[in-house]
Order: sequence, then C-alpha cells, then structure tokens
Amino acid sequence: MLLKPLTIKNLKLKNRLVMAPMCMYVSDDQGFVQPFHPIHYGTRAIGGVGLIIQEATAVHPAGRITGGDLGIWLDEHISGLKEIVKAIHDNGAYAGIQLNHAGRKARVPGAVAPSAIPYSPKHQTPKEMTEADILATILDFQKAALRANQAGYDMLELHAAHGYLLHEFLSPNTNHRTDVYGDRKKFFTDVVKAIREVWPMEKVFAVRFSGSEFVPNGVTDLWLAELINETKHLGIDLIDVSSGGNMIEQEIDLYPGYQLPFAKTIKALTKLPTIGGGLIDNLQFANQALINEEADLIYLGRLLLREPYYIINHANRELKEDVPYPEPYLRGKK
Ligand SMILES: Cc1cc2nc3c(=O)[nH]c(=O)nc-3n(C[C@H](O)[C@H](O)[C@H](O)COP(=O)(O)O)c2cc1C
Repeated sequence: MLLKPLTIKNLKLKNRLVMAPMCMYVSDDQGFVQPFHPIHYGTRAIGGVGLIIQEATAVHPAGRITGGDLGIWLDEHISGLKEIVKAIHDNGAYAGIQLNHAGRKARVPGAVAPSAIPYSPKHQTPKEMTEADILATILDFQKAALRANQAGYDMLELHAAHGYLLHEFLSPNTNHRTDVYGDRKKFFTDVVKAIREVWPMEKVFAVRFSGSEFVPNGVTDLWLAELINETKHLGIDLIDVSSGGNMIEQEIDLYPGYQLPFAKTIKALTKLPTIGGGLIDNLQFANQALINEEADLIYLGRLLLREPYYIINHANRELKEDVPYPEPYLRGKK
C-alpha cells in the first residue's frame, strides 16, 4: 500500500510517504530562505518521498521559535520560498508549508499567549493577548496563506500541535481566558476560516494536532475528533497527527509508531485522511500501519534527516517492490 498512488484534491501523490515538517533553524534572523533550504528539501524530493511539508514557518517575527526560523510575514519572503518549491517540484514531489506562531514557546523577544503562563522556568512569561492582538494574529495567518499560495505551495498545514499558539488556545492547561476566546475552539476556528478565505479550495488544507498532551486534563484525540467534526466543513482536508509539546511535565512512552494510535482514532471518528508516524525507521513498518488502517499517509522525520535516499534505496528489499531510481544516479544503484 505504501507505494500506491493516492489523490487528495490537487495532490496526486505517487506514494504514501511524507517528509515531516522539521525546523532547521538556519535562516538569517530575518526569516529569509538561505542556500541550504532548496538543497535540503530538493535532496529529500530526489529521495522519493511523495509530499514534503516544509518546516514550521513563522507568520510573525514574534511568533518564531528561534531567530533561525523561516518566515512568511513579509512579501519579500516569497521569492526565496519559491526556490524551495521549485527544488521540490523539479525533483518529483509536492510541496507543503507549515504555518506557525510559536506563542509562549517563542525564544525571541515579545512572546504572546492566550494566558500569561510561561512554558518553563527558562522561557519568558508571555503577554496575555488582547482581543486586538488576537484579531491581528488571525490576519497574520491569512496574509501568510496568501503568500504561500503566491509562492506556489501545493498544500498548507496549520500548526496546531506541540504547544505553539494554536495548541495553547485549544488546551485547558494553557487557555485560562474568560472572554470569548476562553471558548477553546474559537481561535482555531477563526484562523481556519481566515485561511480558507484566501487558500484556494482546490488545494489541500491540513492541520497538525497533538493527539495527547501526556498529562491529565490535556487535549485528547477524542476531543480533537469532536473539534474536527465541527469544523471540517470549513475546508479541512487532511489531519497530520503528532503529540505532546504543550506541557513541560509530559511523560511520553516512546516506541516505533507511538503516535499512530491517535491518528487511528481521529481517522476513524472524523473519516478524514490522516498522516501518522513517529520513530518509524523502516518501510515495512510504515506499510503495515497503512494496512492496519492506522493512517492514510506516513510521515518520516529523523530517518530522512540521516538518510535522505532511504526510500529509493530500501523499498526494493523491504517492500519487494522497486521505486523509480533517479536517472542520474542509476550507476550507483545497488
Ligand atoms: C529536527 C526536528 C525538527 C522538528 N520541527 C518540527 C516542525 O517544524 N514542525 C512540526 O510539526 N514538527 C516538528 N518536528 C517533529 C517531526 O515533524 C516529527 O513529528 C517527529 O520528529 C516524529 O517523527 P520521526 O520520529 O519520524 O522523526 C521536528 C522534529 C525534529 C527531529
């Protein structure tokens, strides 16, 4: 199943393998694309993955995790981002972008959050957002989505996982507001609506969630399924299921595929396609997860950092099926 094509709206994927979004933190403190980025993403495209989701890309300078985050808060960012898209397209994959605001986990000055609760003693205490701040941030996401379309991305993923701003609004542990945004679903819903006003309906819109916070009282896969069912009519096409990141006290049991159970629940309860994974380091395991209906697509993260050509080099042995080998590299094929 892993190597079977799958169509989701505009994405006519050649296989079910996705490169997970992974921050590289090598931008120039202004969010601009560096020579590293098109090479990094283009290499993974050569390596045979069907869809690449670019790292968390900040919609506002104060919403960066670090000064090295890629940015999309300026029109001037678009031309560099186009180079990433071109490197991915030229080498046979689709290009997705993950839009993020780091909220209270920003390690640059000016962190904001739903409530003034620091993530850890080492993090700054964020400013509690006013309603005006919230409305401005919704617009930041909308303008970023417009730029992502201008840059040519095929897929947009809203980062609502890992304890960043969207997740902070969703969680009772980090959203203690008493105004309308104390309704934990409201900020998320408003951002989805704003993005969908400008992100073409024919292009896939995905959301990444944390299926568990690994502490009592956190957001759960069941609660998220309810949220997704209430909002999917706005134009959510795909759910990327991760976990954790909101609470420093989390205790995670790590094992290959440790996030798949959350993807499976969300897939079953929402009937939307899901991307699942976590610590997957071989294709047979990934294939079995699809057979078990745990997800529709599998993301690979760290495996593709250490071995960008893993898929083309190992599909044959692990899946007993060949994938097209890059023509210029044929003389190196084993
Ligand atoms: C270096 C690195 C950077 C990451 N950056 C992001 C990110 O920008 N956005 C995100 O949603 N997840 C991020 N993650 C999490 C990955 O997308 C993925 O969910 C996680 O690594 C588990 O998959 P894996 O075990 O296959 O690596 C990052 C992980 C790593 C290792």
